[in-house]
Amino acid sequence: MARVASPYVDAPRLPDSDEVDVASLLTQQTGELEIEIGPGRGMFLLERLVAAPAARVLGLEIRRKWSQLVDEKVRARGLGARGRVLADDARVALTKLRPDASVTRFFVHFPDPWWKKRHAKRFVIGDALIAEITRLLRSGGELYVQTDVEDRAAQYMTEIAREPRLIAAGEVEGHPRLACNPYGARSNREKRADEDGLPVHRMRWRRA
Ligand SMILES: C[S@@+](CC[C@H](N)C(=O)[O-])C[C@H]1O[C@@H](n2cnc3c(N)ncnc32)[C@H](O)[C@@H]1O
Repeated sequence: MARVASPYVDAPRLPDSDEVDVASLLTQQTGELEIEIGPGRGMFLLERLVAAPAARVLGLEIRRKWSQLVDEKVRARGLGARGRVLADDARVALTKLRPDASVTRFFVHFPDPWWKKRHAKRFVIGDALIAEITRLLRSGGELYVQTDVEDRAAQYMTEIAREPRLIAAGEVEGHPRLACNPYGARSNREKRADEDGLPVHRMRWRRA
């Protein structure tokens, strides 16, 4: 029986070249540039575009379905000049983005929901991704990560502490933890965690 093509095979993706000027991905050429890794159903990205009307926000979402649906929603809400979601693996996409020091903020909300050891290779946060984020962040730029899994929070803190150019920027000096999300927008998973009363581990670092 013939296989039916997924309706999302043509979800917008990064241009197929080794180097991509990140500004070329958005029509609006001014405003701080922010990247969300794994926006999923896109609530944070959509709310962030409203909460930060001068910012440009690019989402990198490996699942084509969600990438395309959220990208369409961004445009339907009239936010397409400064908002975009591309169907790409962030671990590959970031290596292509240029120039260095061009991104003001990275957001990673509730990543890596896998528990089996054999799934560790799927983890999005790891040394390679941290190195690319560090390269792309401008001086003073921020990396914000949140999760409802305590062990994951500890793992991210250990991994990111190995990068001396990322300075912990939480409420207490020298520590990355934040009590609240300061960005005026919530991810779908964050909203659910709040509704279920689950503790959320929020962390922030700043580029030296
Ligand atoms: C647990 S979900 C969280 C979704 C959303 N951030 C939230 O908080 O509601 C993790 C998301 O990351 C995406 N993801 C996983 N690995 C990725 C990768 N390598 N590049 C881009 N997105 C990825 C998944 O498809 C999924 O949408």
